[in-house]
Amino acid sequence: MTCDPRERAALLDLAKSLARAAGTLQRERYETKLAIETKSVALDLVTEVDKQCEALIVEGIRAARPQDAIVAEEGGNYETQKRDIPSSRDWTWIIDPLDGTTNFAHGYPCFAVSIGIEYRSVREVAVVYEPLRDELFHALRDAGAFRNDRPIRVSDETQLERAMLTTGFAYDIHQNTDDNLDLFRRFIKRARALRRDGSAALDLCFVACGRFDGYWEKSLNPWDVSAGLLLVEEAGGRISDYAGGPAPRSGAQIVASNGKIHNAMLDLLQEAARSQ
Ligand code: IPD
Ligand code: CA
Ligand code: CA
Repeated sequence: MTCDPRERAALLDLAKSLARAAGTLQRERYETKLAIETKSVALDLVTEVDKQCEALIVEGIRAARPQDAIVAEEGGNYETQKRDIPSSRDWTWIIDPLDGTTNFAHGYPCFAVSIGIEYRSVREVAVVYEPLRDELFHALRDAGAFRNDRPIRVSDETQLERAMLTTGFAYDIHQNTDDNLDLFRRFIKRARALRRDGSAALDLCFVACGRFDGYWEKSLNPWDVSAGLLLVEEAGGRISDYAGGPAPRSGAQIVASNGKIHNAMLDLLQEAARSQ
């Protein structure tokens, strides 16, 4: 069963206004003194602003849509207090209140609010707001992808050798030997350029609007990728896991590209896997 388009449009409006409100808070607190704590490991930070933005967004959803399920980075599944994605409600909000926390904590200007909304486990609405450039990316399933309400498309680069790529590293890089460094080396030796900007949500938006040609990363979470994956698809790109199968909702393994360099990226990923 598909969702009601008018209800979906109302959800998009609500997501946009909550993302703008959280982004405004981030802009105001950028480069100010912050209370910072660590989470799973020493590199995994959370600031008071991450928590305030999540509270603001969750309260806004609760007030307007008490029937919806909410999964967010700092609070997990708001019904069960675990980190799973619920399946019992029609609509589920998947929220990263501040993607790029390490950047934010260091005053590096690359962070965003990411809100994905699913209808019965299908990604339907995507909103990513980058407050410093005031860029609001949004997408609706089968209705296109936009930056500040103007349509966006992925790049048309066909050669990995001329591509600008991006990736990221998990917070357990100090402990885990499966650390993406072999892939980083292989891709940087092949592509024109490779960046590591520290916001998976923006990495995906930048693939969607053609700034990057391709992206790969593993060990992400649903809130890092829910919005960005729909943006890439709706901008004409391709998403998958490292073997070319469906991109997992969990964010466990993601390849996103303009589609034209996707097979070359998968070939390199598979070659690396075979040589392990
Ligand atoms: C992180 C960023 C980063 C990625 C990490 C994520 P956070 O999210 O998206 O780019 O490499 O794996 O956890 O903690 O800043 O919301
Ligand atoms: Ca994140
Ligand atoms: Ca976050």
